[in-house]
Amino acid sequence: MGEPFRYRELGYAALTVADLERSISFYRDLIGLELTGRTDGMAFMRCSSDHHNLVLYQGAEPGLRRVAFELESRLEVDKAYRHFESRGLQPVEVEREECKALNQGRTFRVKEPASGLTFEFYAEVIQMIRPFTSPLAKIARLGHVVIGASSFDSTYNSLINDFGFRVSDFTPGRFAFLRCFPNPYHHSFAVGQAERNHLHHINFMVSEIDDIGRAVNRLRDAGVEISFGPGRHHASGSVFLYFSDPDGLTAEYSYGMEEFSEMGAREARMLERGKDAADLWGGSPSPAFGAAGGIG
Ligand SMILES: [Fe+2]
Repeated sequence: MGEPFRYRELGYAALTVADLERSISFYRDLIGLELTGRTDGMAFMRCSSDHHNLVLYQGAEPGLRRVAFELESRLEVDKAYRHFESRGLQPVEVEREECKALNQGRTFRVKEPASGLTFEFYAEVIQMIRPFTSPLAKIARLGHVVIGASSFDSTYNSLINDFGFRVSDFTPGRFAFLRCFPNPYHHSFAVGQAERNHLHHINFMVSEIDDIGRAVNRLRDAGVEISFGPGRHHASGSVFLYFSDPDGLTAEYSYGMEEFSEMGAREARMLERGKDAADLWGGSPSPAFGAAGGIG
């Protein structure tokens, strides 16, 4: 079966935050993102050549507002729109004014019905002239977004059949690591079974193990709660560090990830559940891990 449309990469995550100023300084001064623009209730931050990889909206209920994926071309955006229409998911064009404000070309949104999460699709976003660098951490990219879903099977089926994600590894009925084909990374999105639909975490990939080690001390010194790690995930092989942002939302730095080729990729593995799967080094998360933040 051919893919319904071709992804390029995870573009950005949009979060609702209670205090915009406080969250800007957290993501800029502790995590290392660059502020590239802001309006009254909104801030754009980047960790790549894209104009934004994180968009913060001031609002009453902190959580995941939407997740945005860049597709390979305008043609793929067209194909994706028609695909969602044919699946009965009612994609919605973003008005020209808002596209302009987002610094993006044609953009549309579609909701995954079971989790209520809004996905956004586009092919063009303003490319910044100056390369992204940060003195705090060698952030390589926005890595992935993970949600908890109360109707795991419905969300999972929709992500595969409607959204065209491919499974890299999974625990039946519990958890799935998904890649946005033909993007090579083990997962750009993941979903776990949960009591309610919620944001689990957003991830920033870093380029060196030292970025993780330095972050442990930097975050500790700043009084930031480290909710899990440093440790090593079994599935992806990544070294991870999870911490709480000012609203208690969980963010992650991680280092290293398996890559899949477009043709001849290995089959998804069905993984055992258990403590070692989460952390091969034997660590346990604190109650704050993935606990705060809704969807929408
Ligand atoms: Fe993660």
